Amino acid sequence: MKYSATVNSAKTANTACLVVPVFARRKLSSAADELDKASRGKIKSFLKKGDFSGKRNQLAWLYDLPYVKSTRILLVGCGDVKSVNKAVYKKLNTAAANAMIEKSVTTCTNYLGTIRNKHLGTGSVSKLTPIAFADSTYRFTSFKSKTGAKVSLRSCALAMNDKKQLGKARKALATGSAISAGMNLTRDLGNTPPNVCHPTYLAEQAIALGKEFSKMKVEVLNEAQMKKLGMHSLLSVSAGSEQPAKLICMHYNGIGAKAGKPVVLVGKGITFDTGGISIKPSPAMDEMKFDMGGAASVFGTMRALAEMGAEVNAIGVVAAAENMPDGKATRPGDVVTTMSGQTVEILNTDAEGRLVLCDALTYVKKYDPTSVIDIATLTGACIVALGHQTTGLMSNNQKLANKLLKVGKKIDDRAWQLPLGSEYDEQLKSNFADIPNIGTPGAGTIVAGCFLGRFTSEYKWAHLDIAGTAWKGGAAKGSTGRPVPLLTSYVLSQF
Ligand code: BES
Ligand code: MN
Ligand code: ZN
Repeated sequence: MKYSATVNSAKTANTACLVVPVFARRKLSSAADELDKASRGKIKSFLKKGDFSGKRNQLAWLYDLPYVKSTRILLVGCGDVKSVNKAVYKKLNTAAANAMIEKSVTTCTNYLGTIRNKHLGTGSVSKLTPIAFADSTYRFTSFKSKTGAKVSLRSCALAMNDKKQLGKARKALATGSAISAGMNLTRDLGNTPPNVCHPTYLAEQAIALGKEFSKMKVEVLNEAQMKKLGMHSLLSVSAGSEQPAKLICMHYNGIGAKAGKPVVLVGKGITFDTGGISIKPSPAMDEMKFDMGGAASVFGTMRALAEMGAEVNAIGVVAAAENMPDGKATRPGDVVTTMSGQTVEILNTDAEGRLVLCDALTYVKKYDPTSVIDIATLTGACIVALGHQTTGLMSNNQKLANKLLKVGKKIDDRAWQLPLGSEYDEQLKSNFADIPNIGTPGAGTIVAGCFLGRFTSEYKWAHLDIAGTAWKGGAAKGSTGRPVPLLTSYVLSQF
């Protein structure tokens, strides 16, 4: 998809489709008003028929309005102007894009971009439009023998009210478009079946990214190298798998190493989580192919940064392993020594995410990071707490937590903070090692955060539990591409 910004008048714009907002109680947007005047009242007379009031999510097609250059108009009911928040704005755009794809429309001029209120400025509409359109245009057909019709929509000109907004809009459109390209990579990796998307496949994807972008350097550690470093916790997870674990490090150098210390992102990359010997129940186990969603979001963010040529230094680290039961698999009761020197009693082999992350989090100290964010589909308990709408956030630094909450809200990829602290950390007591890998019942998400906290005291750190937000189940099963918007915005905000 190509995006541009324009101040074209709706009357003279020459495109396959004009996307035109109408507000509640038949209130015309400026574009609708212009079209109405040009066509000697055709919009108002249509609205008077009563089929369309401007209620949110109403759609109507109009054709061949007199004195209007473009032949096709899609009216989009938006409800009250004030009620169009960022989430609603995205939904209106996705609905419009879906309707255009259904009619095989190839290009549009989109006047939803002229909506302004306390939620929507030039920057927001320009970033959110490509993100919303990508939601409609994304297809995952790599494993279908018949791929079906190609998505027709190829370009969108986002309309602004004023020429003065064009510069800002173009920049934000480029950012939004790079973020949506990153999200699409995240979706592709998440959706790819686990017999294909294993740790070595992820390593190959990283190497490909390194070849595509000159500012991206990639380094992959194999099991022998990890063993040498003392990453026995990470290696205990891949012990039962035919697939060797990989530690994948992607260095994006947008401003030269000495110009700024890096932000480091660490992703949980369990390419399939059976639970191991503490095996999971069968229903929906296929969805554990998405257990590399944290890793996929690191890939997506690195791609987004590289694609926009961001002037930042960021390092993405992916701890990739497959968690399988086997004669060589780790047993409940096994004790392993982590790279940090702390020993862990593995009481439940299904709490494997923290076992791979703890060694990766120790490893990244060597980068002298300004902050470290880990991203993980870590606990089912996070879905109980926050559902599928909001990412769980924990941090050892309140300023960092505040920043993540703020940028997440701004790009409508929200997180919500949960506490950490000694009253929860107490749940991590083992008779046989320094710590167990699970706590006593209650606050599972926080206790997992506390476990990671034992390895992150030397830098500013935040943990994002994306168990609920990384993918959708049911009929629309698939990776969401989250939290690439949040992570990309955060990295950009640090330079
Ligand atoms: N990958 C799962 C968490 C998960 C489960 C995410 C379902 C999304 C949907 C993780 O590895 C896991 O199994 N966690 C356990 C931890 C428990 C054993 C302390 C869980 O949440 O049940
Ligand atoms: Mn698990
Ligand atoms: Zn898992």
